[in-house]
Amino acid sequence: MISREKLIELLEERSPARVRALLDTADRTRAYAVGESVHLRALIEISNVCRRNCLYCGLRAANRHLPRYRMADREIVEAVLSAAARGRRTVVLQSGEDSALTAPRVARMIRRIKDAADVAVTLSLGEYPRDDYFQMREAGADRYLLKHETVDPDLYKSLHPGMSFERRIRCLVWLKEAGFQAGSGMMVGLPGQSAATLADDIIFLRRLDADMAGIGPFIPHPHTPLKHSSPGGADLCLKAVALTRLALPFAHIPATTALATLCPNGTERALKAGADVIMPLATPEKYRRLYEIYPDRSPSSDSGPDSVIELVRRLGRTVSRDYGHTAPRLNLLAPFDISAYKRALQRCPL
Ligand code: 5AD
Ligand code: SF4
Repeated sequence: MISREKLIELLEERSPARVRALLDTADRTRAYAVGESVHLRALIEISNVCRRNCLYCGLRAANRHLPRYRMADREIVEAVLSAAARGRRTVVLQSGEDSALTAPRVARMIRRIKDAADVAVTLSLGEYPRDDYFQMREAGADRYLLKHETVDPDLYKSLHPGMSFERRIRCLVWLKEAGFQAGSGMMVGLPGQSAATLADDIIFLRRLDADMAGIGPFIPHPHTPLKHSSPGGADLCLKAVALTRLALPFAHIPATTALATLCPNGTERALKAGADVIMPLATPEKYRRLYEIYPDRSPSSDSGPDSVIELVRRLGRTVSRDYGHTAPRLNLLAPFDISAYKRALQRCPL
């Protein structure tokens, strides 16, 4: 593993030639470790209701400007079937922290999906008690995304009223214990974040042995307390993607929608800097503009002439036809000792 000092130095690197060398190294590492396949995960945003008040996010409960929706199970299954018909092998069900999405309800939804379609199911629904995660896993869900957002405890606290970083880590440990392929990740360019924090974020992902790692730039939303903050930088974000690939060669790393929103060729640049996943939007048309975590989202499309499939082909890569699970065999290279991690957690000063 690269040292913390080296991570900081590379995140701060300004020489175009050296940055290019870093991104190319990440690209070669990606090719060697996970190959030329790009996994398309169909993103279905099942509810924009959220009980939290994260300072950066347009879905925060205090944002009264946003009309709220929650998809019915029937609509979700329809969206899954239509994604499956387009060849997607994974659906990602994402939502705000919606108290109506109880574990039994989510479990029922997963069973309906698994009965109806041959797809892997990734959940991204926020924090739940331990038993709830087990219930969702037993119902057949395969993966779970829970971004840690930032490892800086003070920054975490100031951005997430009423939440705790320690609880976040616990949730990630529970997800691992429940047998999920677990993903985490962070935002780049949060106000108050430094290169050292970002280096610690990457080290955290490595310690967690994350199966997936999502890294996107912060984009200010006009109906949030951070409306006057500057957005994160695309170049810094790409360096963080590249370094995360070096830290976690076998992980699945998406070219995030936030990066594509920030710069027009963001998806292509991320795919050439270590990313191997794209998450095309499969939310029904009528709900799309309501899932406004940040403004002017530029989601990937998986049909039509501008589709990501064309992009993948142009880059000489292939669209994966399998589920795109993390191979357990490869995880042996970086064994995750859950009891050691829990012991470390007990010593955690947070
Ligand atoms: N800019 C960028 N990403 C954001 N997210 C939420 N708000 C923003 C924003 N303003 C990301 C967070 C969160 C997910 C729902 O979207 O990483 O995990
Ligand atoms: Fe809710 Fe997630 Fe947005 Fe926080 S980041 S307000 S938990 S949707």
